[in-house]
Amino acid sequence: MKTNHAQVEINDLRDLIQLCEQMGELKRVKAEVDWNLELCHIAKRNEEQNGPALIFENVKGYKTPVLTSVFMKPKHVAMVFNMPLQSTIFDLAKKWISITEKGGIPPKLVSNGPVMENIKTGDDVNLYEFPVPKYFPKDGGRYFGTSVCLITKDPETGFVNLGTYRMEMLDEKSLGALILKGKDADITMKKYQARNELMPAAAVIGGDPRLFFLSACSIPYGVSEYDIAGALRGKPVEVIESDLTGLPIPAHAEIVAEGFIDPNPENYRDEGPFGEYTGYYSKGRMPRPWLDVKRILHRNNPIFWGTTVGRPPTTNVLIHSLAKTAALWEQLNQMKIPGIQSVYFHPAAGRFWAVISVKQMYPGHARQAGLAAFATVVGNYGMKGVIVVDDDIRADDWDRVMWALSVRYNPVEDTEIIKKGRSTALDPSLPMGNRHICSRILMDATIPYEWEDKPELVEMDEDMMKRVNERWSEFGID
Ligand SMILES: Cc1cc2nc3c(=O)[nH]c(=O)nc-3n(C[C@H](O)[C@H](O)[C@H](O)COP(=O)(O)O)c2cc1C
Repeated sequence: MKTNHAQVEINDLRDLIQLCEQMGELKRVKAEVDWNLELCHIAKRNEEQNGPALIFENVKGYKTPVLTSVFMKPKHVAMVFNMPLQSTIFDLAKKWISITEKGGIPPKLVSNGPVMENIKTGDDVNLYEFPVPKYFPKDGGRYFGTSVCLITKDPETGFVNLGTYRMEMLDEKSLGALILKGKDADITMKKYQARNELMPAAAVIGGDPRLFFLSACSIPYGVSEYDIAGALRGKPVEVIESDLTGLPIPAHAEIVAEGFIDPNPENYRDEGPFGEYTGYYSKGRMPRPWLDVKRILHRNNPIFWGTTVGRPPTTNVLIHSLAKTAALWEQLNQMKIPGIQSVYFHPAAGRFWAVISVKQMYPGHARQAGLAAFATVVGNYGMKGVIVVDDDIRADDWDRVMWALSVRYNPVEDTEIIKKGRSTALDPSLPMGNRHICSRILMDATIPYEWEDKPELVEMDEDMMKRVNERWSEFGID
């Protein structure tokens, strides 16, 4: 497919900034702005009015600029997928599937890179040198890690994971992290705990922007985000093997804080709360793992990258929508459920609701597709509802989906309730302190395959429609 933007090859954050600027998708804020709430509140208002990415060039007390509001729109993602700017989430998900099905491209080890331009150890390690924002008044502190990738390595298999977990600046050398149960870094951390060893970890800001995008997506344990990023960019991500932690660090990262996390819960420190993507706070300040930062690496004139979380619209919901659309579609294909036409997670519904369009081939087929969705890796985590529609409706055509719910769905007959499934601890619709399990609903808005007497659809005459389309310009309507 031909893209309608200049072919700027995006290898790092600076390339994305350049392309966004060329496409009129980035504004530079030159007025002085406080890192304390003001920066976030400007970004939030901008995001609510569907504005461009922002670079705050004059953060009070700092020289380092702060980038926000990236990946708020499908356009921004289209740039790193090298797709036309008008691409929908649906188009991007299809591209993602086609690329990842071909397999990943592992990272390439290089001996040096811009991230090594400044190396700070010992007393020079000071996270306060960066304009780390405080986002919302009730947040527990300043959050270094929002647009962050935490790199960890499985001590048994060597699998390298990149995951986005919020990271609060606890002091100049410590970053408290929320790593929810069952997340990849949690699985890895438990292995270090069993071995009674510290877990090497690196919090990375910048580098290839695909890395942040992918580290916020639930990619199965054992599949490295580095490899998928390589596949998306069509060549390997360049990494440097750290002589401190042994971890592969993106050579073009802006800022890296590396060190060790003690997996022993007795040594956790208080972290949180933080305004989460659901628009609510969950638990308050409580003991959580923290990164003991032994070394900071950064490029000359680094760019700090942050993401407002809180109530949608946010970066998270778009990433969730795209990643989950692609992952569910792919996983249903892998399960060999026939007839899947399309899959969609609406951005406002985040991870919680999916629509599946299926071409029914046998009785019970639509239910099978819906129930299978709950059993996938992606659907098993926090998904509360699936709506199944017939193949004459695209899963992302919300008007038609509502129509199907209105005229092809009979609640008592067409609903399946599952009482217990894995949830996210951040879901505010669940009681505090008991958020690991939620119920699920399947709404089958298809016309049952087995009905002999199916309702008759009002259809237009194909030949007449063709004629109307050919003569359309004559009518002077558009
Ligand atoms: C800005 C942002 C903040 C996030 N914060 C957290 C967090 O604090 N803890 C967490 O477990 N997941 C968080 N997530 C979601 C994870 O990034 C996501 O579940 C991802 O799949 C985790 O990586 P993993 O699959 O390698 O574990 C956040 C996502 C974004 C975009």
